[in-house]
Amino acid sequence: MRISIIPCEAGYYRVMTAVGRAEQQELPWVEKYRPKTLDEMVNQDEVVVTLKNILKTRQVPHMLFAGPPGTGKTASAHAFARELYGEGYLEEGLFVEVNASDERGIQTIREKVKNLARSIPFGPIGFRIILLDESDQLTDDAQHAFRRIMEQFSTTCRFILAANYANRIIEPIQSRCAVLRFRPIARELVINHLRKIAGNEDVEVDEKALEAIYDFSEGDMRKAINILQASASISRKVDEKTVYQVLGYVSKGEIRRLLEMGLAGKVKEARDLLREMLYVQGISSSDILTGLYREIPDLNITEQAKVELIDELGELDFRIAEGGTPEIQLLSFLAKIAKKARS
Ligand SMILES: Nc1ncnc2c1ncn2[C@@H]1O[C@H](COP(=O)(O)OP(=O)(O)O)[C@@H](O)[C@H]1O
Ligand SMILES: [Mg+2]
Repeated sequence: MRISIIPCEAGYYRVMTAVGRAEQQELPWVEKYRPKTLDEMVNQDEVVVTLKNILKTRQVPHMLFAGPPGTGKTASAHAFARELYGEGYLEEGLFVEVNASDERGIQTIREKVKNLARSIPFGPIGFRIILLDESDQLTDDAQHAFRRIMEQFSTTCRFILAANYANRIIEPIQSRCAVLRFRPIARELVINHLRKIAGNEDVEVDEKALEAIYDFSEGDMRKAINILQASASISRKVDEKTVYQVLGYVSKGEIRRLLEMGLAGKVKEARDLLREMLYVQGISSSDILTGLYREIPDLNITEQAKVELIDELGELDFRIAEGGTPEIQLLSFLAKIAKKARS
């Protein structure tokens, strides 16, 4: 059995359990326990009150959901839309999610919005909601372009922008939005939530384990639930040791193995693992890059070699962004590590 928690962009962790088929098909608990209604949201009282008031009047402003990862921004946008439009909110295309970091540029978003805005949706509510997730990833220029889209389509569309950092959103957008602030979730509330999930999953977790999970998660519920699930897949009785064992996988995970293979000059093995990560597990090349970036300082090579590798990594990042094939670029990076290790 292999379990790893892979550091992804913006401090997200993705739990990978590669066991039998049955287990792979198990829904990640973060999805299974995603709050469906605003009342199920833990710890975001101010936000919930505001959203409920908006639901009462049905006067929906553009909104900016700002706050750290794993605090319920995406979940509450969905819950809000479900309560506004009803269960079919997604299938009927009344609520559309666009990820700013996936989409290639503002033009794609524009095309999408234009197509959607062309038809006013059926039903009592005459506008759609478009969630622009990770909107702080847009460049300033893209944000200015987006602001014009907001203005142009404001009768047929309302926008919810989700961002980790409100201050990365340009002022003209901020001033057009109601800003709702999400807070890291309090220790007791995270722990209570984990207890409920564990109870439901027939997993025993002791107090120290819960404390350890919280300490690592720092109020990020996604992280906390992921660690709990990874721990539970090691043992149905989770104690502090199990949790540390799981957290150990963060650094000793596949990224680490990749680097070690690179250092040992095992290019073929590195390629196979890389392919598995990219194509079987579906890890994005940018997540692998972020992971490499975090692991390099801990490698057992000279400081000079580390500096050169980080520099190389910057190049790699650029080449992938420019459209280079991620597999080839990453593998060529790993081959360079082998040279550095020998020099
Ligand atoms: N306030 C919350 N209450 C309950 N569960 C939460 C909360 N925030 C996050 N979660 C859990 O973490 C997962 C990810 O939350 P998400 O809304 O995507 O966070 P964000 O968009 O702020 O990064 C959810 O599916 C849910 O399981
Ligand atoms: Mg989100």
